[in-house]
Order: sequence, then structure tokens, then C-alpha cells
Amino acid sequence: MLTQEQNELLTRIGPGAPMGEMLREYWVPACRSAKLKAEGAPERVRLFGEDFVAFRGTDGRVGFIAEGCPHRCASMALARNEGDGLRCIFHGWKVSLEGKCVDTPTEPPERRERFAELVPVRSHPVHEAGALVWVYLGKQATPPRFPDFEFTRLPEGHVQPMRGIIRTNWLQGLEALLDSAHVGYLHSANLGSPAGRSLLKAESDYMLNNGAPVFEFMEQPYGFREGALRDQEEVSYARVREVALPYFSFIPMTPGGPGLACCSIPIDDVTTAQWYIMFNPSAPMEPSRMSTFGTWSGDPDHFNADMGSRENTWNQDRAAMKAGHWSGIVGRGNAYEDFIVQESMGPIVDRSKEFLGSCDHVIIRARSQLLRAIKRYEETGEVSFAGPDVDFGRIRAISFAFAKGGDWREIDAFNPPAIAAE
Ligand code: FES
Ligand SMILES: [Fe+2]
Repeated sequence: MLTQEQNELLTRIGPGAPMGEMLREYWVPACRSAKLKAEGAPERVRLFGEDFVAFRGTDGRVGFIAEGCPHRCASMALARNEGDGLRCIFHGWKVSLEGKCVDTPTEPPERRERFAELVPVRSHPVHEAGALVWVYLGKQATPPRFPDFEFTRLPEGHVQPMRGIIRTNWLQGLEALLDSAHVGYLHSANLGSPAGRSLLKAESDYMLNNGAPVFEFMEQPYGFREGALRDQEEVSYARVREVALPYFSFIPMTPGGPGLACCSIPIDDVTTAQWYIMFNPSAPMEPSRMSTFGTWSGDPDHFNADMGSRENTWNQDRAAMKAGHWSGIVGRGNAYEDFIVQESMGPIVDRSKEFLGSCDHVIIRARSQLLRAIKRYEETGEVSFAGPDVDFGRIRAISFAFAKGGDWREIDAFNPPAIAAE
């Protein structure tokens, strides 16, 4: 439970809000790289309650500027992409890939060039990695170190990012990505079905057999590592999640198979991009792996577009529930179940009304680390979770079974014990 003041502090991300200012100090995914074609249409991107456009030039570089034209704010999403910059269709002013105003043809020829130099343009640094365009929206003149997670070091075909959009605040999204206790309940129908399951049968059974995992934590310079431990008759089963604050949760996946990194990126106070980034270090990803988890909208930039809403109770199927389906969210992957539950809490859940239990240790930990990070940022300007001691490339979440009485902390995520396929 939080006070209403703490809840406001953690959730409000607009310009000037303490959390908004701190969160802008981290690189964030803006859009899929594949979305931007050389000399193609600019892509509208909304982040932290502000509107931008991203576009790709002839040479492949990406520009990222405010959506409103620096002249009189016409949308640059309508602009002509001239290969080295965008030209506004209203009066022909042009902004270069580097984010400078380079032409103002409505000015008299003798002062046109000098005048253009005076026009302020809002632009931001970008970096492409992991099949994504990332942007830095913070205040530092030199952008901070890029978080070069394992998936950002892979060739583009090995990474498959998909974006879900939820009508809730970013922290609700993040908290669902941290919560391991719900898996054996909310996702139990998927766990129990060969088609819906994303894990080995043995692992699904481990989770269905023990619905009250014990949580253990290891503090890390990027956040924390969480072991969700489910004792079985013969062995212990560990799901080791990596939480790279403020945005990322690496979901434990079966060793040797594709990995999954998820993050919760604010679009505005009550809308959030949930990126599901699937990646395979050892082989290219199969096309649209998302479809193996159930039906989805088919749009990788809004994969849950057909999820429904409060008005139709998110298409929940009561007849299926009577017939034994747990959630009534039928034929969909786990992400739809997660998103629907998050939206059902309301746009910004009032955390002063909660009553937390043992299964909530992980979100309590994340909230207190975030509150400490805001305080530190406000007092010193220093950013947490991204110091020189963080080795982003060595963050990997896995699941494994191990001998009872053993210590999950000693398992190397890059060399873990295998789990029997059946
Ligand atoms: S509003 Fe863009 S050139 Fe005038
Ligand atoms: Fe979930």
C-alpha cells in the first residue's frame, strides 16, 4: 500500500513531474526499426505525453523531432521526406535529419539562410538496436550510456519486437510484468493447454502444482533478480526473473529457447506501450512467433488492437468459464490476459486502497527502489540503475529445476541445468 502522494509521485510522467523527468533520462524504445523506410512516411510517436515524429533518410539514418512544425505547428507527420530532412507541406520550411532548420522559403532571399539558422527545433538523439529505434528524451547534452542488453547485440532477424497498447498508467504495466504469483491462476488455462503454453509441459506442471511460490531476491546494480521458487515432490523449480529498472522485466524462459524481454513505456499518464521483445541468441526468430500463443490482431505495432474494452468486458466468455476455462479470455496469449487485468484496475489504480500479501513482495520492492531513485535524482541529479557497474549484456532470465536443498543463486544463467522435454 502507498499513500496517495507516493502513488502520484510514481505514476505521473508528464513534463515537469518528478517521475517524468527521471524516466526521460533513460533510452526508451520509440518504434520498430522496420516501421521507418528510407525516404518513407514519417511515423508519429507519442511518449511521456508529448508528440514526435521519427523518419528515415536516404542514407538510413533516423531523425526524431517534435511533431509540430517549428513555424506554426502543422504536423510534420504530413511533411515531405526529402531524404536529408522533412519539409513541412504548409509553408515549405525544412528540418534536417540532424534536427536543424535548414530552409525557410517564405522569407526574402537575402535573409532566408540566416533566418533559418535562428529557428529553434526540438530534436532528440536516436540509436537503433534490437530491431528497435530508441530515443533519449532527457536533459543531458551527452546522452547516457545505451543499455546494450543481450537482444540489442543480436542481428535484426534474431529479434522480434511487438507492441501492445494499454489504457492505463505505465506503473500498472510494469507491476504486471513483475508479478510471478499470478501465472498459475490468470494464465492457468494457457499453461494447461499445449497450444497456449509457451513453456515445456514439465514447467507448466510445476507451476500448476504449486500456486504459492516463495520469493527470494538478490539486489543488483540495475534493479534486482527475483527467484520464484516452487518446491515439487522430487525437485525445486526456480523461475529467475531479471528486473532492470525502471522499465524492463526479463521473463524466465526455457534454456536454449527464445528469450523474452518486456518493458512498460509511458505514452502519457493513462496510456502505455507494452513492448514484448522476443529474441533468439542462437538462431533467427520464426516469423510472428506471437501467433503461437493464440490469435492476435496481426498488427505488430498494436498487437492487442482487438482486445475489447471495459464497455464489452473485454470479450470475456462466461460460457467458457462455466465449461472450465479459468479467465474466460479464450484463444489468446498470456499478454491479453495481463493487459485486460491491468486495464480493469482503471487508468491509474489507487494504491492507497490495496491490501498486499506475501505474493506482492516483488512489487513492494520495485516501488521502494523507484521512490529512492526519484529522491536521489531530485537531490543530486544522479540516475540510478545504469551505472558503470551494470553489465547489461549479462542480464538473462531463465527457469530451471534443481536438487532440493540447492541454491538457485549459484546457477549461471548462461549455463543452466536443462529441463526434461516431457
Ligand atoms: S507550419 Fe510548417 S512551414 Fe508553416
Ligand atoms: Fe502474466
